[in-house]
Amino acid sequence: LPRFAILVAGGSGTRMGADRPKQFMELLGEPVLLHTLRRFTESVLQVQQCVVVLPANQFTTWHQLCAQHGISIPHTVVAGGVTRWASVRNGLKFLSEPTEGIVAVHDGVRPLASTTIIENTYAAAAEHGAAIAAVAPKDSVRGLSKEGSYAMDRSRLRLVQTPQCFELNLLRRAYELPELPTFTDDASVVEDLHTIHLVAGDYSNIKITTPEDLVLAEALMRARQT
Ligand code: C5P
Repeated sequence: LPRFAILVAGGSGTRMGADRPKQFMELLGEPVLLHTLRRFTESVLQVQQCVVVLPANQFTTWHQLCAQHGISIPHTVVAGGVTRWASVRNGLKFLSEPTEGIVAVHDGVRPLASTTIIENTYAAAAEHGAAIAAVAPKDSVRGLSKEGSYAMDRSRLRLVQTPQCFELNLLRRAYELPELPTFTDDASVVEDLHTIHLVAGDYSNIKITTPEDLVLAEALMRARQT
């Protein structure tokens, strides 16, 4: 089955508190999003088309960054929406293949997704229809209630990462349904239509969200290169 990828980087990154969107901040001298794009265009993965979703006012900056870093990786740039859900929905419209295939949705701010995780998630989605990367929580977790908080059984919980891979038509159908405030990823959008298969994620596949994540990501990337 043909493979596609939608890299969502349409957010403004307000939690980073920096002067530019977090997807453009530099890791080992290169923008975060460029690292992520590289991951998905590794030739062994055989991804046919990569769609990169960006805020409409960042297209010029992105093209300048690609030129500056001498990058000529083919990809389709499309405008994001107000929420992640709207950004993914817009990305879906620009996939060239109209009929079938497997599409991966991946956070542009997860530059450390390994080829193994990406390959395993695509393969699991080809078999099960919907597959996402997830890891067990390392910390204890508590739920919040009106009265305060209560202990939760962490062995029954998983932390969700991306990539999240789906049969193209399944993801299209899911994104025709109305948006709910509880949608923070694609599995939550699809789950009323199809069972979600969990694939082993990786603790180093972090989402760059707050300033310390950049320090961590750089250290992890350096360790991987040696
Ligand atoms: O906000 P959060 O950290 O959950 O965002 C996850 C990913 O979704 C980020 O890569 C972000 O750029 C993207 N996003 C988007 N459009 C939005 C909000 C977030 O593409 N409106």
